[in-house]
Amino acid sequence: MNTPLYHALRALSQKHTARFHMPGHKGKDVLPDFGPILPLDFTEVYETGNLYTGEGPIRQAEEQAARFYHAPDCHFLTGGSTQGIHTMLYAAAGAGADVLFDRNCHKSAAHAAAMLDLSPAFVFPKTIEPFGIPGLLCPDEIDRALSQNPSIRAVLVTSPNYYGVRQDIPAIAAVCHAHGAKLLVDAAHGAHFPAVGLPSPIEEGADLAALSAHKTLYALGQSAMLLSGGTIDSDRLREGASLFGTSSPSYAMMVSLDLARDALEQDDSYQKAAEAVHALRLHLAEHTKFRPLTGHDLDPCRLTVSTAGTDWTGDKLADTLYERFGVACEMSDARNMVCIVTPADLGDNLDRLREALDTLSREVQQTVLPAPLPPLPVPRPALSVRRALLGNASTLFLDDVQPGMVCARPVTPYPPGVPVLWPGEEITAEHIVFLRNQCYNTIDRISVYQP
Ligand SMILES: Cc1ncc(COP(=O)(O)O)c(C=O)c1O
Repeated sequence: MNTPLYHALRALSQKHTARFHMPGHKGKDVLPDFGPILPLDFTEVYETGNLYTGEGPIRQAEEQAARFYHAPDCHFLTGGSTQGIHTMLYAAAGAGADVLFDRNCHKSAAHAAAMLDLSPAFVFPKTIEPFGIPGLLCPDEIDRALSQNPSIRAVLVTSPNYYGVRQDIPAIAAVCHAHGAKLLVDAAHGAHFPAVGLPSPIEEGADLAALSAHKTLYALGQSAMLLSGGTIDSDRLREGASLFGTSSPSYAMMVSLDLARDALEQDDSYQKAAEAVHALRLHLAEHTKFRPLTGHDLDPCRLTVSTAGTDWTGDKLADTLYERFGVACEMSDARNMVCIVTPADLGDNLDRLREALDTLSREVQQTVLPAPLPPLPVPRPALSVRRALLGNASTLFLDDVQPGMVCARPVTPYPPGVPVLWPGEEITAEHIVFLRNQCYNTIDRISVYQP
C-alpha cells in the first residue's frame, strides 16, 4: 500500500502514547462501533503533520493524490467540495470580484458569492429532453459573456453534474484562458475519474477543481480534495481552505482520503462498476419502459433513469424502489432518479436494482412524453447576492409573491434542476408564471428579501 498518512498514524497509534490531547476518545476503544478508526483519529501533535501548514505525513498523502490525478498540487479538505468551492472562489476571484457561473452551480457557490461579495453573471446549460436535466454549456456563450464582462477573472462550471453529464473542459478552459480568466471546476461528483480512464479537470486544462471523495470514493463523509494546476498561489489556497474550514480538521477523514485514493490504484474494480452500469443502461433501454440517460459524454458510473413517457414520476419510482425493494437511490425528481454506482454495488446491489426496475416496468403505463421545458426567464440582478442572502428574508407562498420582490435564496425546481431565481434577482411576472406552470409540485414557497 502507498498510504503515507495511514502508515504514519497507524505507527503512532501503536506507540501507546498517553494522549493528553484531543479528540476526547484518546484513541481508545470507547465507542465499539467505531472500531479501528479511533486510534487513527489524531490532532496536530508530535509527528502527525498539519493540514493548514502543509507538512508531515498529511502533505505526503496530498502529494500522492496530486500524482494520481496528474495535478501539480492537491490539498485535502474536511468540509466537502463546499469548502473547496469557497476556497477556489476566494483564491481565484477574491472579495468583490466579478465572476461567471454555470447557472447549474451548487448552492455553495451562492454562499461563497455572499461571503465574498461576488457579482455573478451566468451561462445556462442546454436542457436534455425528455429528461428535463441540465446538459452542456456552450463555450461560445462563455466566450461572449467574458467579452461582455472583461473584468471577470474566474469562471466556475460543474462537471460532471448530478446526472453524470460531463462538460467539454478543454474547450471551456481555452476560452477562459484566452480572456485571462481562471477556470474552476466543481468536480464534486467526479473523484473516481482516473479509475475509469477519464482525465481529471486539471489534466484537461482547469486551474482548480474541487472533488468530493465521499460521494464516489470510499472516503468518509465530508472528505474532499482541491486539485490545483499550479497557476494559483499554493499559500493562498491553503489560507482559503483554513478560512472556510474548521480549525480541527478530522484525521479520520484525512486518513480515509489517503486510503480511498490508494484503493483506486489497487485494481480495476471501478472499471468493472462502469461496465456494469453500461450493461444495465442497455438492459433498461431494451427491456423496460424506463429510459436510461445515454448518448452524452457521461460519467460511466452514474445511472440516471427517466420515467418520462410513463405515468410515474421519478420521485414515485424512487419511493417505490425504497419501500418495496429496499433500494435507495441518490436522488430523484419529477422525471428522473439517479444512482451513484461504485464497486461496492457490484453483485447484490446492482442485481436488486435491475430486478426491481424490471418488475416495476411491468406496472407503469406508457404515456406521451412531457413537453420540452420552455427557456428560463432572463435573470434581472437587483441587489447584491451578499445583501439578498445574508439580509432579512421571509418565506412566502408563491401565491403571495408579487412581481418586483427580490429573491433571497436560490429557487431550484427539478426539472430543470437549474435555479430559476438566484439571491438578489428581481422576481418578475414571468418568473411567477414559469414557477406556477412548470414547477407547481416542487416549488410552492420562495424566500424573499425583506428590506
Ligand atoms: C454538484 C455539487 N457540487 C458541490 C457539492 C457540495 O459537495 P459536498 O457535499 O462535498 O460539500 C454537491 C453536493 O451534493 C454537489 O452536488
